[in-house]
Amino acid sequence: MNLEEMRQSYSMAGLSEKDMADDPLVQFQSWLVEALNCGAPDWLEVNAMTLATTDGHGSVTSRIVLLKALEDDKFWFFTNYESIKGRQMQACPKVSLCFHWPHVQRQVRIDGTVEKATRERSETYFQSRPRDSQLGAVASNQSDIVADRETLERAMESAAMQFDGQTIPCPEHWGGYGVTPHSIEFWQGRVGRLHDRIHYTRSDHQWIMQRLSP
Ligand SMILES: Cc1cc2nc3c(=O)[nH]c(=O)nc-3n(C[C@H](O)[C@H](O)[C@H](O)COP(=O)(O)O)c2cc1C
Repeated sequence: MNLEEMRQSYSMAGLSEKDMADDPLVQFQSWLVEALNCGAPDWLEVNAMTLATTDGHGSVTSRIVLLKALEDDKFWFFTNYESIKGRQMQACPKVSLCFHWPHVQRQVRIDGTVEKATRERSETYFQSRPRDSQLGAVASNQSDIVADRETLERAMESAAMQFDGQTIPCPEHWGGYGVTPHSIEFWQGRVGRLHDRIHYTRSDHQWIMQRLSP
């Protein structure tokens, strides 16, 4: 493997200001649909996004989560409120999201402020999840140290026994977060690394669109 030799040329499309929606959330929605419908391989989760969080004291960390809704002009995902990310977002609600859709040579970056979903919203989504995922959320203290795999599997079995034949309630420590964006950047790969970058920032109640240098 030679990392220095690995490179792709991007030539599928370009981005022109006149083709971009005034509202970046509308633009995002159309890119998400295109990411899904324009040759996405079956295994690719186009709603997977990198979520970067900070503790507010200079420590930053990131991981993948799944976008589960675009509602009320927010990007929604679900997780454990007591996980590393949950604790960081409690300390500092500033987050960054990043989608990478390699098959269309696109990236979208979203910076914004996060807030918890209402209990009702979290419970509604929790009840729509497969039973196994519900049990996993009950059994796992996400991000805590666990002795071994067996401990986890025992916790899962014990949750399955506890709720046998019953509806599994959404744990108090589990729920949604909505990110209200204050900036969104659309990136389209171009030849010679002269990529197109269209960046929106919110000023008062309107979005300003600018082109950034690649
Ligand atoms: C494709 C993919 C999707 C994931 N989706 C979620 C998700 O929606 N919610 C979640 O809590 N973790 C999700 N994870 C696991 C997280 O990346 C992460 O390991 C976990 O949330 C713990 O993160 P933390 O310790 O930083 O809090 C996903 C991982 C992958 C690879």
